[in-house]
Amino acid sequence: MLNEKVSALLNNQINKELYSAYLYLDFSNYYQEIGLDGYANWYLVQAQEERDHALLMMQYLQNNGEKVTLEAIAKPDKVLDDKLTVLKLGLEHECYVTSLIHTIYDAAYSVRDFRTMQFLDWFVKEQGEEEKNAEDLIKKMELFGDDAKGLYMLNSEMGARVYSAPSLVL
Ligand code: FEO
Repeated sequence: MLNEKVSALLNNQINKELYSAYLYLDFSNYYQEIGLDGYANWYLVQAQEERDHALLMMQYLQNNGEKVTLEAIAKPDKVLDDKLTVLKLGLEHECYVTSLIHTIYDAAYSVRDFRTMQFLDWFVKEQGEEEKNAEDLIKKMELFGDDAKGLYMLNSEMGARVYSAPSLVL
């Protein structure tokens, strides 16, 4: 059994990860609509990763005898009206998720829950990578996105991203 607060925060995080998946599906749809199918692919893969994060948390709770409670997933509420702004919203969202992961880590640390801390280590690292990815997307769009050929190349690069299952095995 886990500490009540740690368990509640992990349950809540399942919802946040599923919301992230939902948000990135919205991003994917936006890019599809404006004809940037590579970016649509990139965020579709990202949505799959977010779903995996939720499933990992669910499995971790279950492995520790905890009840999983699924709540309603909020409607994506970001205004998507510009190819660069959407990328910035992505970075903003990842920074927010990082803060949530750190809050859970902090709760685990305060009750000396080393098992959960070790579980969360993967997520701490993953968030670092996701923030970096989001920053890189912004930088590239700022550098090359206003040029038609540059944008074409970027879109092709984003289209090459393929889904792979998470490296964390519970
Ligand atoms: Fe699951 Fe992008 O954090």
